[in-house]
Amino acid sequence: MKEIRTQVVIVGAGPAGLLLGQLLQREGIDSVVLERRSREYVQKRVRAGVIEFGVANFIEAAGAGARMRREGLVHHGVEIRFERTSHRIALSELAGGKSIVVYGQQEVVKDLVELRANSGAALLFDTEVTSIGLSDHEAFVEAKGPEGPVRITGDFVAGCDGSFGVANRTIPSSVMKRYERAYPFSWLGILAEAPPTTEELIYCRHENGFALYSMRSPTLSRLYLGVRPDETLDEWSDERIWHELNVRLATDEMPEINQGRIIERGITAMRSIVIEPMRFGRLLLAGDAAHIVPPTGAKGMNLALADVRVLSEALLASLQHRDDTLLDAYSSTCLERVWRAEEFSNYMTQMLHPNHLDEFENGVQSARLRQAVTSSEASTVLARNYVDLNSL
Ligand code: FAD
Ligand code: PHB
Repeated sequence: MKEIRTQVVIVGAGPAGLLLGQLLQREGIDSVVLERRSREYVQKRVRAGVIEFGVANFIEAAGAGARMRREGLVHHGVEIRFERTSHRIALSELAGGKSIVVYGQQEVVKDLVELRANSGAALLFDTEVTSIGLSDHEAFVEAKGPEGPVRITGDFVAGCDGSFGVANRTIPSSVMKRYERAYPFSWLGILAEAPPTTEELIYCRHENGFALYSMRSPTLSRLYLGVRPDETLDEWSDERIWHELNVRLATDEMPEINQGRIIERGITAMRSIVIEPMRFGRLLLAGDAAHIVPPTGAKGMNLALADVRVLSEALLASLQHRDDTLLDAYSSTCLERVWRAEEFSNYMTQMLHPNHLDEFENGVQSARLRQAVTSSEASTVLARNYVDLNSL
């Protein structure tokens, strides 16, 4: 078996693993990133789109923000729509002048992959980690790559491999506590070659279900429909998707949305998960490997990037100054913020997805929505959490 030695083994080339690699590289720490998918696959995987204010600044400070600043769309507000009426939440006014950047996750990934490729640091695609081994003085992973099996040993393993990866499964169940909530709906998401109909994102509650209007560029729209959890793409022709988006999003001012060729589609289940602790000896979890939020709050990628900010500082202190204080605090430092994001994502999800079986719940939702758009206290909390939860 081929053997490689490094300081930090990073499992997964999503936003968390790649940004961690970049932060360590800038400080002269050697790492190897392993990714089971191909470079083309990770660069095309359409997912998140909203980057918080502080997270965008951090991406820039890490040297990975040039294209995001050039091409990202800066938004100062979002719309909350219900009962055929739109209500604008003035994000920047309510959140001390801060704004969000709408920039696709796969673009963040592309930028980080390119930086790593140019730096010559190791990034092994098509290489699946099959197991993680831990001892008191080192950690290793075993993986299957295009040239056969490989074993990579380091001081630490960073598990940035998402919720179905190998890292969180490595923590014994006697040590790990898993909190979980499954929601009774999924999101059908499309990317369409259609100029956005509006300038700002629209979160919409309609009696048929949730809808979200987002975008990627002046020519690309990203839209979502809340659907039943057992629904499949076969049940949704292009015609039905556009019809349902129009029914749910329609207002008197915006009776129809711009349509175009659908170039990507997928269905995502909605879950909340928290894994405690985020550290097991020399294994550190970051991003979706440690927690999942339903996408209604736009927090998943932001949380992942905020985790690796804390993790990179902890690893630097340990590897460069033999100081483990930050590493010992890593899990509790992150979890405090993670639970805030869980709460916000749960609040947004519960407020915007109607429940066909529970009329009482629907009454509560309407009251929450009205409060969110009419009470300045409630809209200020919403705006501050939406724009910059990970730096609060
Ligand atoms: P991932 O991006 O999942 O990366 C993990 C990587 O590890 C993957 O590339 C995977 O292939 C690899 N891997 C897994 N197992 C192995 C293994 N054994 N060996 C090697 N590699 C492995 N978040 C937001 O902040 N804002 C949004 O607007 C938003 N919208 C979303 C919309 C949708 C429809 C979805 C599905 C998610 C959304 N999210 C959003 C969430 C966001 O996409 C995730 O939270 C984010 O991808 C987490 O990054 P990560 O690096 O932790 O994990
Ligand atoms: C997106 O643009 O993909 C997006 C935006 C906001 C969300 C989720 C996804 O809450």
